[in-house]
Amino acid sequence: MKGVLFDLDGILTDTAKFHFAAWSRLAQEELGVILPAEFESELKGVSRVDSLVRIMDYAGIMNNYSPAEIKKLANKKNDYYVKAISSLTRADILPGITEFLDELTEHQVACAIASASKNAPLILKNLGLSDYFAAIADPAKVAHGKPAPDIFLAAADTLGIDPKECVGIEDAVAGVTAIKASGALAIGVGDTQELKEADIVVPTTNELDYKLLTQTFAEKY
Ligand code: G6P
Ligand code: MG
Repeated sequence: MKGVLFDLDGILTDTAKFHFAAWSRLAQEELGVILPAEFESELKGVSRVDSLVRIMDYAGIMNNYSPAEIKKLANKKNDYYVKAISSLTRADILPGITEFLDELTEHQVACAIASASKNAPLILKNLGLSDYFAAIADPAKVAHGKPAPDIFLAAADTLGIDPKECVGIEDAVAGVTAIKASGALAIGVGDTQELKEADIVVPTTNELDYKLLTQTFAEKY
């Protein structure tokens, strides 16, 4: 194992509540709909514009908007979201993550971000975690979002490491599918049943450690 490819939202910090709050405000103000609570988990790993499309689908209004109007709405949601994440600090890093990153650094394992979020650099900066990552794959430069493998392939490529020598870490079903399709070993964080496609699932980020990764890697290859 030479590299670890991290999803960001739900792995390094919990941003789903901020995404949901921003989408809820936009949906209410601009589309006149109240989003049901299920949307918080349904939009995990789904790109900004695809999230808006799903919300419009739910509201039954997709055909009334031009591409320019869709972009404007997506930008407005992002303004709400960026304001919310500006208050993130080290205290918002999920349990065990800093220790895990220290361990990977100690063992000279390269780390990269493979997130659908265009706000990843800002979030890493606010959490004080930027220095741990040798690369942040740019979601604007990949053709297909998760569950396609593109962002994980791009992250491994930026590190200059074969995806087969990498481990990917994800909390979303589409993300686990993307890791498996890239050829990397998949670690799921969350519900075992939901993330059953992963090579191994741990309940929380606190269980992530170097030994677990190397052991799982040795068992599979
Ligand atoms: C992550 C989140 C999604 C979000 C996507 C794009 O995958 O789980 O909920 O829509 O990133 O994020 P962005 O910050 O670019 O709007
Ligand atoms: Mg995630």
